[in-house]
Amino acid sequence: MQGIESIIIENRSRDYVENRIRAGLIEHWAADLLADVGVGERLKREGMLHWGINIGINGELHRIDFKALVNKRVTIYGQQEVVKDLVARRLADGGPLLFEVDDVTVHDLKTQKPKIRFKHEGRPQEIDCDYVAGCDGFHGICRPSIPDGVLSVFEREYPFGWLGILSESPPPDHELIYSYTDRGFALYTMRSPTLARLYLQCDHDEEIENWSDQRIWDELHKRLGGARKLQEGKMLQKGITPMRSFVVEPMQYGRLFLAGDSAHIVPPTGAKGMNLAFADVVMLSRALEDFYKNKRSDRLENYSSKCLRRVWYAQRFSWWMTQIMHRFPNESAFDRRRQLSDLDYLTSSRAASTPLAEQYVGLPLD
Ligand code: PHB
Repeated sequence: MQGIESIIIENRSRDYVENRIRAGLIEHWAADLLADVGVGERLKREGMLHWGINIGINGELHRIDFKALVNKRVTIYGQQEVVKDLVARRLADGGPLLFEVDDVTVHDLKTQKPKIRFKHEGRPQEIDCDYVAGCDGFHGICRPSIPDGVLSVFEREYPFGWLGILSESPPPDHELIYSYTDRGFALYTMRSPTLARLYLQCDHDEEIENWSDQRIWDELHKRLGGARKLQEGKMLQKGITPMRSFVVEPMQYGRLFLAGDSAHIVPPTGAKGMNLAFADVVMLSRALEDFYKNKRSDRLENYSSKCLRRVWYAQRFSWWMTQIMHRFPNESAFDRRRQLSDLDYLTSSRAASTPLAEQYVGLPLD
């Protein structure tokens, strides 16, 4: 990266990170960025450009036309495909990229020379760093290595989860369908024209064992509400995703910079997780470049506040999409009428659908 040396360590195997199914939606600017940094070739070939989404209200579909509203699109391309492209690029550039490292710890974060210690192939290793980028996810070791009392935590749990499947069958529409129904929310998305990714709102403590393939299909049919035909296919994967909003502030401690899920989690409605991680990493790489090339550290000092502004926009958007689309266990009759009215307004007014379009395709980086 810009002639700045870096070492990437990963505690999972290459096979694991390249095959773990995650979100699959890339904002307009982020797809352009991947092309600009030289990992966009396959994305350009295989990614599906979407210029709108459908919102279903009890089986009635309303299209939100991103092209007409904001002249931008999103790209459907699996996160694990982005990971494969990044890994291939990194290895082609000579690495270093170490998989399956164990016992990672970070030290001396408040000094000029922080250290990372870990084991690789059974041998203890130590890296002397200028800076540490904590890109190790929500369950990683970087955030918990920051002393108590430094970080403020902002958190919200939702009283439901998403049961997701990957099916060898075409999606019911060539664009996504976010479907609000009396039975709960469902999302009909895809990884390719022949591979559907389908989700159902379920209880937050639901056990996947309670959901036979047939029960899942029956519910997916019902929550489409007759708007489209849904073809059933072989289920390649099924699992339950919890729903949480989470932010820590600041995203920095000494020479450790948190990026992506290590600092923030959004519920999947709106698919902002990977895109927020891209944005953090762009900010950090620009700040490091400014430091090494121009001996300026103000961008590093402003990293956290710059990222958090975008993080909170995405938090608010993901919370809003979640609360407008889901049934809540304790909702009153008034709450339901208000929610249906919100959806009606959102899908009938150009003024109301424009903020959805603008945020869904992704706010510009600067
Ligand atoms: C997905 O394709 O997995 C996906 C798309 C949109 C979302 C969430 C997940 O809002």
